[in-house]
Amino acid sequence: MTDQRFLHNQWSSRLAFVLAASGSAIGLGNIWKFPYLAGENGGGAFVAVYLLCVAAIGIPIMIAETMLGRRGRQNPINTMLSLAQEAKAGPAWHYAGWLGVLSGFLILSYYSVIAGWSMVYILKMNSGYMSHISAETAARVFDDLKSAPEIQFIWHTVFMAATMLIVSRGVSGGLERATRFMMPGLFIMLILLDGYAMSSDGFGQGMSFLFKPDFSRINGESVLVAMGQAFFSLGLGMGAIMIYGSYLPDHVSISRSTIFVASADTLVALLAGVAIFPIVFANHLEPTMGPGLIFQTLPIAFGQMPGGSLFGVLFFVLVFFAAITSAIALIEPAVAWLSENQAMSREKACLWSGLSCWLLGLGTVFSFNLWSGNTWFGKNFFELVDFLTANIMLPVGGILVALFAGWIMRRETSETELEMGSAYNYWRFTIRYVSPLAVALVTLSAVGVI
Ligand code: PFF
Repeated sequence: MTDQRFLHNQWSSRLAFVLAASGSAIGLGNIWKFPYLAGENGGGAFVAVYLLCVAAIGIPIMIAETMLGRRGRQNPINTMLSLAQEAKAGPAWHYAGWLGVLSGFLILSYYSVIAGWSMVYILKMNSGYMSHISAETAARVFDDLKSAPEIQFIWHTVFMAATMLIVSRGVSGGLERATRFMMPGLFIMLILLDGYAMSSDGFGQGMSFLFKPDFSRINGESVLVAMGQAFFSLGLGMGAIMIYGSYLPDHVSISRSTIFVASADTLVALLAGVAIFPIVFANHLEPTMGPGLIFQTLPIAFGQMPGGSLFGVLFFVLVFFAAITSAIALIEPAVAWLSENQAMSREKACLWSGLSCWLLGLGTVFSFNLWSGNTWFGKNFFELVDFLTANIMLPVGGILVALFAGWIMRRETSETELEMGSAYNYWRFTIRYVSPLAVALVTLSAVGVI
């Protein structure tokens, strides 16, 4: 295994890993998806289940996945293969790596379309057109975008090309430097929006919607969605964190770094929720409006702030950066596999994976307009890809990681890798029993099997 370390460059420091892992975790999932899912799934109760899933399932699996990556030091498929060999288990475990490569690829196909929306909003904010915009106009502007396939086509293409260009140059360098500024920037913008929300009429109502759980408002499917969102937001179950773990130097504490990343990720999601729901209630909007939620609410807030156009531009630029750092993590497993296993150059691997992902993304572009009438199991193309990946594939990937780390890998191996002291036993119990059982129960009951 040692010579793999020379193939694979390592992060310059613990900080670099934390920044890159936060870059992968913090993205559209926090700013765009978390608020609209909370809005659609009953508010406070959804948030409570989400927080529980992050703490009880997400963090232990994140530790496990990072550990597998660091131990294997290759792309997820080869990592699973060589770790299975090391533990004298069968080679079938590498299918877990495959599942991850596939989920990342599927997620990126629609992620890029939504990131394209945020790029459109950079221009809209810059035009000054959004100044003092009413809720009705904000809704119309968003609907116009949704029903225009050609505009989404263009920006989806631009985003995918930008992502693949960065990925083709390797994982450190510019990316490390960019995340160092962008993440704190995003954080400051969200605090600013929260300050605005506090002064708005809807603040009290927004807070109680978000933080006062009413458990009668959720059902099995919302619990599954909350759990899927925990996986999605932390970037788990698909090998991305495994890949980043594979670049992590030996002496760095995995548990401390991952707990830090998970906390930052959760904080950003909550800050986004706190910014958005007061605007929803102050303007008598529906929290259940779905994927358009941030695009229909935040422009109203920016429109009323002094200097709002500038802040609006800055905000969507930061959303774009948050999206691109996640997009890189989504496609890196596929690119690493193509270039390490199929003897393709990194550029060629980027070209092929980027092109096919782009093509699939057109399904999402059309699902909002030309194909909006086409549904499978009551879901359009975008909803179906999202449901399959976030709610089925990532949790299944997570169970496999948990089972491997808890039952297949030898105790001495994980104990040495993790160096957690007495917390090790707690982690081991959770990863062996709590996480796999909880994920299996939630998934099976939501899809109606039990
Ligand atoms: N965590 C990202 C977000 O919240 O936007 C999405 C994501 C990135 C999911 C990387 C999975 C992943 F491996």
